[in-house]
Order: sequence, then C-alpha cells, then structure tokens
Amino acid sequence: MDKSKRPVVIAGNWKMNKTPSEAKALIEELKPLVAGKTGCETVICVPYVDIAVAVEATKGTNIKVGAENVHFAESGAYTGEISAKMLTECGVEYVIIGHSERRQYFGETDTTVNQRVKAALMAGLKVILCIGEVKEQRLSGITDEVVSMQTKLDLEGIDAEQMKNVIIAYEPVWAIGTGLTATPEQADETCGVIRRTLSAMYGEALAQATVIQYGGSMNAGNAAELLAKLNVDGGLIGGASLKAHDFSVIVDAAQ
Ligand code: 13P
Repeated sequence: MDKSKRPVVIAGNWKMNKTPSEAKALIEELKPLVAGKTGCETVICVPYVDIAVAVEATKGTNIKVGAENVHFAESGAYTGEISAKMLTECGVEYVIIGHSERRQYFGETDTTVNQRVKAALMAGLKVILCIGEVKEQRLSGITDEVVSMQTKLDLEGIDAEQMKNVIIAYEPVWAIGTGLTATPEQADETCGVIRRTLSAMYGEALAQATVIQYGGSMNAGNAAELLAKLNVDGGLIGGASLKAHDFSVIVDAAQ
C-alpha cells in the first residue's frame, strides 16, 4: 500500500492547558479555519474538564474530540481516575495513551500503558499510543531497539482487528516542548522502524495500513516537510495546537 492510501490524522494534545471557557473560545476560532478540510482527520485531545464543552462546540463539524489519558479498570476505588466508559458516554472518540509526560511524571510503565490500551479498545475508543526514545537512548544509538520494544510491549495481546483502532504516535522525548524537532529524515526512519515492527507482529498489510504520527515540536513552519515523509501519516501536536491559526496551518499542510 502506498502512503496516499493511509488516512492522515492531525491531533492536538492540549496537555494541562485551557479552562472550559478558554476551550470554547479556541474551538470557535478553530472551526472556520479547518471547516471543509477533509483531507485529514482533525482531532483535539483536551483535559477531562473541557470534554463536555469540546463535544458540544464541535457538534456537526469535522473536529473530533479525544481525552489525554484513561484508566485501565472499568470502575472502582481509583480516586481521581476516569474510565473508558465514562469517556465514551461523554462523546469522546479518541484517547492518548502512554504519553512520555505520563511515563515520566506519573510512573506509567509499558505494563500499565498496555492495560490502558486494552481497556480503551474494549470500550470502543480509538487509541493514540505514544512511544519514543529519550535523548540518552538516541545518543547511545539504541533508538530502534527502544521504539521496537515499546511497540511490542504496549501492544501485547492486541489483535489485528483491534489494531484498526490504534494509531501510533512516535514522539522522541527530547523533541517534546523543546523546540528541537527530529529532522524529517529521523522522523521517517524511526516511524519506518515502528512500521517494520508492526509488520513482524501482524504482517505487512496491517503495518502498511496503520497510521503512524510524528510528535515533538511540530509547528506551522515545519509540518509540511515532516508530513511529506513516506512513513509519517500525521502529527500529534502540543504547543502549536493551542493557537488556532498555527494548528490550522498544520491541518492545511496535511491536505
Ligand atoms: P510539543 O508539540 O509542544 O513539542 O508537544 C508534543 C507532544 O507532546 C504532543 O503529544
């Protein structure tokens, strides 16, 4: 399959930004800028408290709403956590799982990431699974091993049918929020390593059909170059997704 047959997915990850009223204002600004841009799937992943506002404000538009995390249990004594069913009932379609900030600051491991992926898929959510190496790993020349291992561990027990609802976001940790972007060649190469890992796990047809995004300081100025690469099927965008104009330029670049 050639790249043009894969969907392109541009997703914003707002992280811990925007109150509900700010969220509404940003979405209202974004809506006309991305209206009719059907060449990619446009997703905004927002804080839990912004979900209701985001779902309401995006009704009838081409913008889909995602969450930034989900718990692995169906329900129970997990103070402060949110289940997959709670998200689907609120109208959420996508969920980011395994973001490096969750791994770094909140003790998430490949095991808990895998549990979350399973719970999200069971509930009918589409998963954006984040993987990527830290700076020391890239400098040691073990990036390929790291992303391949994360892919295998995080998708353990996920079958080919479920993989239709999985997007992988390759996010080199050293490029997140640093202004340091992977070069288009680095992004393409490592997304290619992930695709080869998927091929070994599920076969080449599934690997070629899977959307693999790049994330890490993607912005209005560098998106076109990154998205042009053979193995890069979209972007997961942090900082630039908080500015309607910048995010819409990235959506334009994906058309
Ligand atoms: P920045 O685009 O701010 O580097 O963040 C990337 C990211 O972490 C998206 O999930």
